[in-house]
Amino acid sequence: MNILNLYFSSTGNTEKVALRIEKAIRDLGERVDTLKMTRKDMEMDILNYDFIFAGSGVYGQLPGEPVMGLFRSLIRKYAQKGEIVPCSPRRPSAKAVIYCTYGGTHTGINEAIPAVKYMGQLFDHLGYAIVGEWYVIGEYHPEKMRPYSVSGRLGDIRGRPSEQDLQDIEERVKGVLKT
Ligand SMILES: Cc1cc2nc3c(=O)[nH]c(=O)nc-3n(C[C@H](O)[C@H](O)[C@H](O)COP(=O)(O)O)c2cc1C
Repeated sequence: MNILNLYFSSTGNTEKVALRIEKAIRDLGERVDTLKMTRKDMEMDILNYDFIFAGSGVYGQLPGEPVMGLFRSLIRKYAQKGEIVPCSPRRPSAKAVIYCTYGGTHTGINEAIPAVKYMGQLFDHLGYAIVGEWYVIGEYHPEKMRPYSVSGRLGDIRGRPSEQDLQDIEERVKGVLKT
C-alpha cells in the first residue's frame, strides 16, 4: 500500500499526532511518506497514494494558511489535468483520513468542523473515500492564549494531546488500515 501522511502544525500538537500515525503505520509493517505541508508542495502527486492521512491545527475555524494555499493550488492543478470531474467518481481503493487538532474554547468541536470539512473536499473531489474524520483536542501554546486552555467549552485541556489521545490515534490507524 502507498501511504502518505500529510500534516501542518504551527505549535507542535498536530505534529505529535502525525508522528504517532507514522509510528503506527510502521508498526504494521507498512511504508509511509510523512510530509509537513508548505505552500510549495505542488510537485507532489498525491494520486500516487492509495491511503492518505491529512491533518492540521485549527486556526480561526480553518486549517493553517499553508494548507489552504496548497489545497487551493492542488484543486486547480488536478482540475486542469482532468482528474476532477463532475460527480467525483470514486477511485477504486483510494481512501483518506482527515483530522485536526483543535482547542474549541468558544464553541467546542463546532469551530473545528469547518477545517476538517475543508481539507476533506480536496480528496472527495479526487474520488477518495473519506474513511475517518478525527478531532483531537490540542492545548493553546502561545502565551497570550494559554488562558483558553482552562476557560473554554472543553474545560481544562492542558497537556492535550495526551499520551492517551496518542494511543487512541494508534488504535484508530490500525482500524482504518483494515478497511
Ligand atoms: C492563532 C491560533 C488560533 C486558533 N484558533 C482556533 C479556532 O478557531 N478553533 C479552535 O478550535 N482552536 C483554535 N486554536 C487552537 C489550536 O487549533 C490547537 O491548539 C491546535 O492543536 C494547534 O495545532 P498545532 O499545535 O499543530 O499548530 C487556535 C490556536 C492558535 C495558536
